[in-house]
Amino acid sequence: MSQHHPAGGDYRAVHDRSLRDPAHFWLETAGRVAWEESPRQALDVSTTPLPRWFPDGRLNITRSCLDRHVAEGRGEQTALIHDSPVTGTVRRFSYAELTDEVARCAGMLAALGVGRGDRVVLYLPMIPEAPIAMLACARLGAVHSVVFGGFAASELAARIDDAAPSVVLTASGGIEPSRRVEYLPAVAEALELAEHPVADVVALEREGFAHGLVDVAGSGRVRWHDWTRLLAGAEPAEAVTVAATDPLYILHTSGTTGRPKGVVRDQGGTAVALSWTMEAIYDVGPGRTMLTASDVGWVVGHSYIVYGPLLAGATTVLYEGKPVGTPDAGAFWRMVDEHRVTALFTAPTALRAIRKADPEAARVADHDLSSLEHLFVAGERLDPETQRWIGEALGVPVIDNWWQTETGWPIAANPVGLEPQPIREGSAGLPMVGYDVAILSPTGEELAAGEEGEIALRLPLPPGTLPTLWGDDQRFVDSYLAAHEGFYTTGDSGFLDDEGRLFVMGRTDDVLSIAGHRLSAGAIEGAVSEHPAVAECAVIGRGDELKGQRAAAYVVLKAGWEDAAERVPEEIVALVRRLIGPVAAFRDVAVVPALPKTRSGKMLRRTMRQLADGREAPVPSTIEDPSVLDQIAELLHGGDGDDAVGEAEVRPSS
Ligand code: COA
Ligand code: AMP
Repeated sequence: MSQHHPAGGDYRAVHDRSLRDPAHFWLETAGRVAWEESPRQALDVSTTPLPRWFPDGRLNITRSCLDRHVAEGRGEQTALIHDSPVTGTVRRFSYAELTDEVARCAGMLAALGVGRGDRVVLYLPMIPEAPIAMLACARLGAVHSVVFGGFAASELAARIDDAAPSVVLTASGGIEPSRRVEYLPAVAEALELAEHPVADVVALEREGFAHGLVDVAGSGRVRWHDWTRLLAGAEPAEAVTVAATDPLYILHTSGTTGRPKGVVRDQGGTAVALSWTMEAIYDVGPGRTMLTASDVGWVVGHSYIVYGPLLAGATTVLYEGKPVGTPDAGAFWRMVDEHRVTALFTAPTALRAIRKADPEAARVADHDLSSLEHLFVAGERLDPETQRWIGEALGVPVIDNWWQTETGWPIAANPVGLEPQPIREGSAGLPMVGYDVAILSPTGEELAAGEEGEIALRLPLPPGTLPTLWGDDQRFVDSYLAAHEGFYTTGDSGFLDDEGRLFVMGRTDDVLSIAGHRLSAGAIEGAVSEHPAVAECAVIGRGDELKGQRAAAYVVLKAGWEDAAERVPEEIVALVRRLIGPVAAFRDVAVVPALPKTRSGKMLRRTMRQLADGREAPVPSTIEDPSVLDQIAELLHGGDGDDAVGEAEVRPSS
């Protein structure tokens, strides 16, 4: 266990001070970051409901992530390790090398005309060019918008239309254990589907892919460039000083409707808040190594593969592989051993996958894990069984932390770098600095300890959280601030115990967490409804032993399509894969005679979710036809167990 607690002192005192005197607390914390002009004002509330942190500060986050470390003598220290079992390579970049790579990539973008405030969409696999390009955008004051590679062309197109980028950065594709995912045809299709005209696409050619630049170069009005060639002619670019309130990135996340929400993060608040978390929550600083086994397409990747560890002057591992199958369930332990990892961060699903493949955790013994101090997990609820199993196998504390794309860093955690707190199974930990957590009833009353309700955060939110949604202040207010005056609504329900520990029970809306990936039931419903046979449908999340949740669709066919009932489910599965992407991991479709609705036509989703999970579902008095519920319950739990597509799923998918 680490003996140093540089973030300093008593958790409760620090948390109290952050709420009592936020201006002082955050201005002092801002001292960890390299500023061109240090902020004198903490929070500008004149723009409420959209207040801004550090309104008079000026900086470029990449100086804190890169240049500063070189200037302070850490130029030769390893900044980034790309560990890629799928290509059989390991590459290391020192801070000096990474700074140079980022500056050259920034120069390449600048030569295409990218400058402060311009947007650049990144559709990249887990290769070093992904973090390099993110930092290169930030260096120019441009705004990156990373799209996860498991999303299909139409999802990419929706994000292109929202972010309106001048440039798209991509590569030949990503490597999944069972196949190569070709990105270039998807990008070409997305550019066709999008209304926004992209000027330039820069593509990194990787070996072993069927489609190269030659296949797409003529398509559309866009100019296609070869990354390697364009980079070779680029001049390194210096960091551009921007306002702390300038946007650093847009990251789209799933809401309840099909339209993704463009969460915005700013340069100054992100630098300050993430720097604090690296010391206080993750206990990672110079000379220490963090392996965050997520993807740069998710918020965990943005915060704890890229910005956090580099702000801290630590070494970050970018892992292009899976927890199992590349080549086996010992992949994480091999990397801990080889790279002397001190902090490992992953999702509970990954641990369940490892457990399934190696129930006795035999592979742990193959490696020297003495460097490992903590295992951090987030993204979905950590079930106590998995927590116990992995804790015993590794012999290190297993630290849950709860947050969301919107907040960018943990709302609740265990501040092991500050003052480790006793771990309580089932709890996501204690509220972190700047977060004033309240549990509210549906009518907005604050509930007492032990009572479950909506988890809300008293405003203002701390630095590094979302100041707004991209180009849509009103949607930000409506989505998060309108339900309860003075509070941000998280969309999760839970309770606080009498020692202030938070227990997160699950979403109150139709946001799904499938294998730690956030997806929208509404978006999947939209895709299902595209099938011409579908009159109406409902998509709900069902419990899944491995992935936490999986999406299940219940569809009512249009009159005249009865004969197609056998084949329609399979076609719907293919349609969702094509429209949303493989990441939806969608395969459960059941044709039903009717869906449960109120007399006014509102779908009774909650009742369906309760039924699907085998919970007691009180029959709402407003239901139009109660017998529909019996039919669905029969399909869900009373079938013959055949899990072929077309039947309601009665078994967890294998
Ligand atoms: N690009 C393209 N396709 C992708 C992809 C990517 N980046 N990531 C996943 N997919 C595909 C998979 O290949 C799979 O395709 P298939 O239907 O052809 O098999 C599909 O999307 C579903 O993927 P997934 O749900 O991840 O299932 P899996 O069986 O491939 O892997 C786990 C299961 C548990 C190993 C995997 O989900 C995992 O590592 N989960 C942890 C997630 C995580 O770290 N989340 C970050 C939040 S902190
Ligand atoms: P994302 O925006 O993808 O990070 O997803 C955020 C959502 O995932 C949260 O609102 C929760 O529903 C869920 N989540 C994330 N971390 C946890 C956790 N540690 N425990 C329980 N749920 C979590």
